Amino acid sequence: MHLLLSKSVSSVLWVLALTLLYLNTTFAETIAIIGTGEVAHALGPEFAILGHDIVYGSRSPNREEVRELVARTGGSASASGQSEAAAQANIVVLAVPWNVVEAVVANLGDLSGKIIIDPTNPRMVGDDGLRDYSVDPSNGEWVQRWAPEAKVVKAFNTMNWVTMVDPASTGGPVTVPIAGNDAQAKATVATLVKGLGLEPIDLGPIRYAHAIESLYILWGNARTLGTPFNYHFRLEEN
Ligand SMILES: NC(=O)c1ccc[n+]([C@@H]2O[C@H](COP(=O)([O-])OP(=O)(O)OC[C@H]3O[C@@H](n4cnc5c(N)ncnc54)[C@H](OP(=O)(O)O)[C@@H]3O)[C@@H](O)[C@H]2O)c1
Repeated sequence: MHLLLSKSVSSVLWVLALTLLYLNTTFAETIAIIGTGEVAHALGPEFAILGHDIVYGSRSPNREEVRELVARTGGSASASGQSEAAAQANIVVLAVPWNVVEAVVANLGDLSGKIIIDPTNPRMVGDDGLRDYSVDPSNGEWVQRWAPEAKVVKAFNTMNWVTMVDPASTGGPVTVPIAGNDAQAKATVATLVKGLGLEPIDLGPIRYAHAIESLYILWGNARTLGTPFNYHFRLEEN
């Protein structure tokens, strides 16, 4: 009797674990990608393959190259104005130049409760051609201030768009540092990251975005100084 009971309890636990695993790996969201540049071209089609509905937010959603991007993305992908796109989505990716983020966020409407993925890298180029960190404390933290009721997650800013679509091109697993104040939002972004074949690493609250963003300055300066390098985060066990 005792054995039977423990067997049925363990079966229930297995079903529960498998259900949780299923829910964790197969969530489908509407994702607004604001901007239609390289990052949008990389992440949009990849997220669509994972089963998400993609809506691109563009200043000119009817132009030919945006139509082509929508067609390439497939599924139920569409394009509209930036605020219309954000209104439809639970997850909003700010795939726009760093120095327009404030204006873009201000125009996106009510972002309360939404997850905002911020891949931007702030930079200014000084007279000597070198890049300075131009945002204090960081773009990621500013986005959280501009949209205080949203859940901002810094992610995808430590790699170029090629790595986003083809992590294997780097010769091994690539880790994506993420930072944000909301644990659930970070878990959702981590699931997206894994879906792309990348590995997430949680580096803490959004206040650490400045450290993650700064890496771009070193990368850019090395190029200017004639010693270009590439870098990838990789977890130690790999
Ligand atoms: N490219 C990379 O490999 C890479 C990798 C990691 C992170 N990032 C960061 O991710 C962000 C996006 O990168 P990206 O290379 O895709 O950028 P991008 O090509 O320079 O611009 C992205 C899109 O933003 C929209 N946009 C441009 N100016 C705007 C303005 N004044 N107001 C509103 N929207 C504007 C445009 O879309 P519409 O014309 O359709 O409106 C444009 O296609 C950047 O902050 C970058 O630092 C880039």
